[in-house]
Amino acid sequence: MIDIRGLTVEYEGGIKALDGVDLVISEGDSLGLIGANGAGKSSLFRSLTGLTAFKGSIMFNGLEVIKKNMPEIRKDIGYVIQESDDQMFMPKVIEDMIFGPVNYGMAKDDAVKKADEILEQLEISHLKDRYNHKISGGEKKMAAIATILMMKPKVILFDEPTSSLDPHNRRTVINAIMEIEATKIVASHDLDLIYDICDKVALLNRGCIVKVGSKDEILRDKKLLEENGLELPLSFSGR
Ligand SMILES: Nc1ncnc2c1ncn2[C@@H]1O[C@H](COP(=O)(O)OP(=O)(O)OP(=O)(O)O)[C@@H](O)[C@H]1O
Ligand SMILES: [Mg+2]
Repeated sequence: MIDIRGLTVEYEGGIKALDGVDLVISEGDSLGLIGANGAGKSSLFRSLTGLTAFKGSIMFNGLEVIKKNMPEIRKDIGYVIQESDDQMFMPKVIEDMIFGPVNYGMAKDDAVKKADEILEQLEISHLKDRYNHKISGGEKKMAAIATILMMKPKVILFDEPTSSLDPHNRRTVINAIMEIEATKIVASHDLDLIYDICDKVALLNRGCIVKVGSKDEILRDKKLLEENGLELPLSFSGR
């Protein structure tokens, strides 16, 4: 479904965020993307969604990720960005949620009905009519996830979906992500979450893929994780 070849991202000032990354994601996969701060996880997401210039090639469902194909590709990709402040652009949560579907032709009443279901699933119905700029960081994250779910994308990229969430909301989001039938790529430092949600894991270090394997192969390998600036998930560490 997604075929990444030789993906290289170089920002101004010569910072190489990704350096020749090859990665294949099949339909229905749930892939964890892990790596220390600055490893290149968000840069990979930004490349996939055409938000940053890159060298190499990315094929998405048979379409090359290039400017002219982006309107088509964006319909199928949901991207929960790392900074939820930048995700929401309408004044109220409900307005953000229905914006995409209504724009694509759904009747407003139907969109609101759908939004109600998703708000309920995420246990955030109380946020429906709140103003985006007047809710907390964690609430914003929840609202951003709700907005992405409205579009029923074929692929969802989650960049740190549970950062700033309290334990209850973290669990709610994990359960919601597990229930989604889309192909998923989840970047996170929360390796327990990656273990719960993903089947496969790709480990990045300084812009390069170190290893791709099953979650057990990678997340139980203390030495491998430590060599790459990470630690065993809490559930395996005996702490
Ligand atoms: N807009 C930018 N301009 C210049 N350098 C950038 C830019 N965005 C990211 N970088 C650099 O690119 C590298 C990869 O950053 P990226 O955000 O992809 O890492 P990450 O794995 O998502 O990190 P984190 O875990 O902290 O979110 C880092 O060295 C970062 O400083
Ligand atoms: Mg990041």
